[in-house]
Amino acid sequence: MAERITWIGALDPALRTFDVILKTANGTTYNAYVVRGSAGVAVIDTVKAPFTEEFLAKLEATARYDELTVLVLNHLEPDHTGAVAALLARAPHLQIYVSTRGLQVLRGLLKGAFERYDIRAVTTGDTVSLGDLTLRFLSTPYVHWPDTQCTFAEELGVLFTCDFLGCHYCDERLFNDAVGDFRFSFEYYFEHIMRPFRRYVVEALDLIEPLGAQMIAPGHGPILRATPEAYIQHYRRLANSRLAQATGGAKTLLIFYVSAYGATEQMAQAVCAGASEIEDVRVSLFDLQDGDVQPFVDLIEEADGLAFGTPTINGDAVRTVWDLLSSLVDIETKGKLGAAFGSFGWSGEAVAMVEARLQGLKMRVPEPGLRIKMYPGAEEEETCRAFGRSLAQHLTGQMAPREIDMTELLAAQG
Ligand code: FEO
Repeated sequence: MAERITWIGALDPALRTFDVILKTANGTTYNAYVVRGSAGVAVIDTVKAPFTEEFLAKLEATARYDELTVLVLNHLEPDHTGAVAALLARAPHLQIYVSTRGLQVLRGLLKGAFERYDIRAVTTGDTVSLGDLTLRFLSTPYVHWPDTQCTFAEELGVLFTCDFLGCHYCDERLFNDAVGDFRFSFEYYFEHIMRPFRRYVVEALDLIEPLGAQMIAPGHGPILRATPEAYIQHYRRLANSRLAQATGGAKTLLIFYVSAYGATEQMAQAVCAGASEIEDVRVSLFDLQDGDVQPFVDLIEEADGLAFGTPTINGDAVRTVWDLLSSLVDIETKGKLGAAFGSFGWSGEAVAMVEARLQGLKMRVPEPGLRIKMYPGAEEEETCRAFGRSLAQHLTGQMAPREIDMTELLAAQG
């Protein structure tokens, strides 16, 4: 693949779905590498378990087991560690290098055999020598698991990034200047794997960019030997915010609703009016009736607070609201303010169900959901406005946060 480096990965052209959710229209690759120094040989990552024999055959064609000294595991997910057990069975003397967070996962992977091996936890700045070559480790957590790290072969200028800067694209020509057009796969992979962690992506880019790598060797898809810096810059663009909104520093609150007979809409407008009374909060109101939720995902990614209004129909929230909430898996929602409200006729479970989902998305839900039976009267409209004011004040820090006991809330809602 390059001087002192051999690709020992596997092609999986028949794969059509990865990790249940990702489409892989022409398959993927599981890239693994051998790096040969004057006084040591390293294996960097392995492959998915069904490709173990293929991996071992490629490894044996380039190195003897007794000359291997180092195994680097940049990420412990099974598509990169499926051949670890088989490799260790043949080369039990290998020193294994993982990130600090990777240790626990490796313990689970190796089960009772964990203590048997020479395992070293590393972080940014740590190195291991292969004689005339040095492998330098960089801690790049959450791209996309807590354990992820990159490894830089300093003298060769090659950066091994595992999932980071990779994509699901299978082409035996291996290199980015030789394979077909994989731009869609590169961006699709970012959208579905890296986007929820984009602030960690930026941190990782800040760490690796100064290396000036001549080649980026990811764990999936083409090896980036032509203009690797262009892929780093493209990741930066993908990770950074869209057209900045002129909020003047104001917090943003998005209110979404669906209304069967106009009652929840009436509530939504009152919540919006109340929230708009608070300075330094920009409030937006959206009707989800037409069912197209995807355009709102980008807005939500950059919003500070979200409120969802839904009636209860057949004991459930309205499908469009669920569609929107399930679309948020691709973005970071942790720490945003969340709230739910809705009109109901009989049972009114929807509000608590939506709140539970918001908490599942790790949003903070500082105000108990607001439910109103049938249409809000004048007094209840004022309750809605107060609800909106409270949400806005939580955003501006004018309200002390309080935790909701979901058990009590559910009990109160029957
Ligand atoms: Fe390619 Fe996160 O595994």
